[in-house]
Amino acid sequence: MSAENDHVDGVAATPQIEEENRVEIFDTTLRDGEQSPGISLNAAEKVEIASQLARLGVDVIEAGFPIASPGDFEAVQMIARNVEGPVITGLARTHTADIEAAWGAVKDSPRPRIHTFISTSDIHITHQLQTDREDVKGQAKAAVAHARSFCENVEFSPMDATRADVEFTAEVCAIAIAEGAGVINIPDTVGYTTPDEYTRYLERLYELIPELRDVTLSVHCHDDLGLAVANSFAGVLAGARQVECAINGLGERAGNCSLEEIVMLLRTRRVDHGLDTTVNTRELARTSRMVSRATGYVVQPNKAIIGRNAFAHESGIHQDGVLKERTTYEIMDARDVGLESNSIVLGKHSGRHALRDALEQLGFKVEGNALNQAFQRFKEIADKKKQVTALDLEAIVSDELREAGQKYELAWFEVESGSRRAPVARAGVTMPNGEEATGEYSGDGPFDSVFGAIQAAVDVECDLRSFEVGAVTGGEDALGEVTVQVRAHGRLANGQGVSTDTIEAAARAYVRALSNALEGAAVREAEAATAEHAAAPMTPGP
Ligand code: KIV
Ligand code: ZN
Repeated sequence: MSAENDHVDGVAATPQIEEENRVEIFDTTLRDGEQSPGISLNAAEKVEIASQLARLGVDVIEAGFPIASPGDFEAVQMIARNVEGPVITGLARTHTADIEAAWGAVKDSPRPRIHTFISTSDIHITHQLQTDREDVKGQAKAAVAHARSFCENVEFSPMDATRADVEFTAEVCAIAIAEGAGVINIPDTVGYTTPDEYTRYLERLYELIPELRDVTLSVHCHDDLGLAVANSFAGVLAGARQVECAINGLGERAGNCSLEEIVMLLRTRRVDHGLDTTVNTRELARTSRMVSRATGYVVQPNKAIIGRNAFAHESGIHQDGVLKERTTYEIMDARDVGLESNSIVLGKHSGRHALRDALEQLGFKVEGNALNQAFQRFKEIADKKKQVTALDLEAIVSDELREAGQKYELAWFEVESGSRRAPVARAGVTMPNGEEATGEYSGDGPFDSVFGAIQAAVDVECDLRSFEVGAVTGGEDALGEVTVQVRAHGRLANGQGVSTDTIEAAARAYVRALSNALEGAAVREAEAATAEHAAAPMTPGP
């Protein structure tokens, strides 16, 4: 089928593609993506994101690193039990305990996979693992064999492969294949390689390991030099049929290959290379918004594919061209990535049923108490805003999901401010023990004052690292959306808040960020105490 024939009413349907030309999408937003500084997703948010990834049509979801903490284990297990469609995988070092934790977490999925890894570069072997090549071979062999004793679907990654000796990496991969790994993933862990060098590396691996043709070759590229998508694309052209990537390009340091970019690159240039994914691209924008809200990582306006300006034409010449014929300056249709406006519009007279139907159309299953809460929130907003659109509803539901997992909650706040007096704010915060603590502060303006009042209520030192204000939609009565990053108790954390009142959105965001930081610090302390007690220190993770 040609790309053109797949259009229904001008919007591309998910195309059919021959199996050998199908590139599988392995989403690692919830594992590598979650390793970005400041991100702390609660289990409900992780399940919601995983469900949206399933709707998007990814092939594999890497749901987390189960050995890392009891919270990670539970979230991977919840995803394995509740999200159908994609393969669900958990990451594991070569340690027996890691592999058993990964299996314990994914085994209830209809399609489980264990993903195990060990470094093959001498830099990592000498300095980090402090061992030798023979030991690495032994660990890889034992880990894959152990994983295969539980699970038919096992993936193996030689970490830092692109800086490793290709002959040695080939030896380790051959061992993994012999032990039953069905996917061999070649990570560019530090984002160092270039497209031509990566191509040569993969071609050499094919020469050195003929059995590589019998398994799925996968690519996993980081973006330190801005080449993650280009390198992944080179990998696919060299024969890889799985790309590891993350929504909005999230991931360690500069991030991973951006899912939306590689998917649209393959779709848009399919005629030239014959390869494609089966991702439903119309879900891309929504998935991106959901992940951005949950993680507090705002998408830059000029981000390819899903940025606010990705389809905006500013210059008169471009606008003139697009008005005459869209393809003069557009290589993709905004509707194909889900950036078209959704027709759902509710108002203050809409009832609970209308809200539930609208949420269902948007892919949210909200019942019982959650529906009551969403309805109450919707009513508050509909009273202040004439029309509540699909984008507003998405923002409200994400906001409610975030609230569900919070230990500290904003109970109330008040701010007095003006140009002729010093501002003063007071705030009440519901503490983890259910009691309300209050604080007062006079700062450099209404935002600074309300943040100070919250800090005084919670009584912790807290540094504001970043503060961004946006709007969910256009228009004067748009919902305000605020993202903050704070550092408290040595922990960096993000928080977001949505409201028709920007100060309220900021106050909510601040309490959430603080709550995430304090919760993260408490979990880290508890883990340290357990590790000390068990006298079993963890070696570094991925
Ligand atoms: O970047 C990396 O090498 C990884 C591996 C665990 C696949 O994330
Ligand atoms: Zn990685």
